[in-house]
Amino acid sequence: MRPLWCILQIQRSLKCPLASVSWLLRRTCRTHSSSPSTTCPDPQGQSSVRAQKDFSARLATGPDFQHFLRSASAPQQKPSSPEVEDPAPYLTADELLGRQRKVYLETYGCQMNVNDTEIAWSILQKSGYLRTSNLQEADVILLVTCSIREKAEQTIWNRLHQLKALKTKRPRSRIPLRIGILGCMAERLKGEILDREKMVDLLAGPDAYRDLPRLLAVVESGQQAANVLLSLDETYADIMPVQTSPSATSAFVSIMRGCDNMCSYCIVPFTRGRERSRPVVSILEEVRKLSEQGLKEVTLLGQNVNSFRDNSEVQFNNAVSTKLSRGFTSNYKTKQGGLRFSHLLDQVSRIDPEMRIRFTSPHPKDFPDEVLQLIHERHNICKQIHLPAQSGSSRVLDAMRRGYSREAYVELVHHIRESIPGVSLSSDFIAGFCGETEEDHLQTVSLLREVKYNMGFLFAYSMRQKTRAYHRLKDDVPEEVKLRRLEELITVFREEASKANKISVGRTQLVLVEGFSKRSSTDLCGRNDGNLKVIFSDAEMGDATCPGLQVRAQPGDYVLVKITSASSQTLRGHALCRTTLKHSSAPC
Ligand code: 5AD
Ligand code: SF4
Repeated sequence: MRPLWCILQIQRSLKCPLASVSWLLRRTCRTHSSSPSTTCPDPQGQSSVRAQKDFSARLATGPDFQHFLRSASAPQQKPSSPEVEDPAPYLTADELLGRQRKVYLETYGCQMNVNDTEIAWSILQKSGYLRTSNLQEADVILLVTCSIREKAEQTIWNRLHQLKALKTKRPRSRIPLRIGILGCMAERLKGEILDREKMVDLLAGPDAYRDLPRLLAVVESGQQAANVLLSLDETYADIMPVQTSPSATSAFVSIMRGCDNMCSYCIVPFTRGRERSRPVVSILEEVRKLSEQGLKEVTLLGQNVNSFRDNSEVQFNNAVSTKLSRGFTSNYKTKQGGLRFSHLLDQVSRIDPEMRIRFTSPHPKDFPDEVLQLIHERHNICKQIHLPAQSGSSRVLDAMRRGYSREAYVELVHHIRESIPGVSLSSDFIAGFCGETEEDHLQTVSLLREVKYNMGFLFAYSMRQKTRAYHRLKDDVPEEVKLRRLEELITVFREEASKANKISVGRTQLVLVEGFSKRSSTDLCGRNDGNLKVIFSDAEMGDATCPGLQVRAQPGDYVLVKITSASSQTLRGHALCRTTLKHSSAPC
């Protein structure tokens, strides 16, 4: 077999050291494509071979190397819909259409990936693809992947091996099954995946989802296709994600992408590229639409939400510098101008008084007083802040390049608690980072005891190639020590969270109902303002806004619940009455 063509595309963007090498690949015809001319008996297969020959002929007279260099350096155009994007000269408009092919999407990792799945699906849907939740009937399987820790990648490799069997067993009477890797793993491993897992047909990095119809059209002809180009400005601002669950009460709205912080352990800046914010107007438009659809909660989403800075409107590009939290520094030059997170939060919270607003994930350095003030003042901004500490040892924080000491972090916690009484705090921690001693570990234990977080996400350190820690530090904490320390952190976190959550017992809390509890169909489940799960019996109750009315709570209703018991992760109680977000302080 002979490679049709292979192009290495080097992005010549001096401004973007992260996105230094990116490429589009068309590879050797794969096993499927080598045989169908002789073995595939069905008419569809023959027409597919004809189409393939035709396609190969057009490729031969297709674009040259300069074409790809041009498109790499040209600023990204934002077409209003993907199907009107300037078609690649070697593809017809018809080939870019999905032709009712069924796509099965599987998501791994963080909430950003869930949102990316909805964006990818929105793009494919407009191109004529159908979605299926049945793996067996899929024509295309796309995995939206995560690279944050080794274990996350291992899960995806295991899944790929299962899918390989599905692909091999596929009857010849059906069109060949295509498998694609989207997101962080595609970006991190690039060609390695195509080489290692020959059954993978398609790679699309986190900034390449607009290119999916073209990549799939190339794949359709039996070639492998990849686009792992990182962008300086892609925010998918014009793409309305398709909500996966139409009955949902909450939605995530992506407000920014990428990260400039370069914490020494983190792969994210390398897989998701430079930090860029979506224009405020398009965010407000999406939130308005979600409010019109009746959604009751929106979480503003990004790798670094509170570093938000929309500089798309020239008049706001003044010389005002970013205000950092007291005692905090950033790893990059202070940014100036643009519309900041406090402005966005203010605008979003004004759209619908019945809509709860949350945001994740922030960095502790970007909590100026105006953001804290706003959270305190607005009844619909949840009094819940995720404040990822990562470690309780100043020495380790320095090695992690987090830009703060333990003392500065603790001072910020106090300041937040004074500014927002009753605020609920959560955090991320990494156990066993490079050089972490037993003493450093105990410092983290003591931070957990001191802050008493309501929620926590704890991980064992997993060394990632490309990061600063990989190049400069030694992953010297043995695996069993990492795991033991992680267990200790989890135990202490649970003890403290149980204590913190027990304070709620006897109090009345406002709960947004999500649906029936997974464990019992006689219980309802929802979330309080602090985002903690609350379970209560599904019984008739009064309505605070309509005296005399007896109702049963439905998903999307706000219910006042009296808390009767608490664990480290859940509260239990009984419902007092249905109410609204605005009326929630009124007595039942
Ligand atoms: N190893 C372990 N945990 C990590 N995180 C990020 N990178 C790593 C890594 N290499 C954790 C951090 C971050 C969360 C999303 O994942 O705690 O806040
Ligand atoms: Fe990773 Fe640090 Fe950016 Fe979070 S802030 S995504 S931990 S580099």
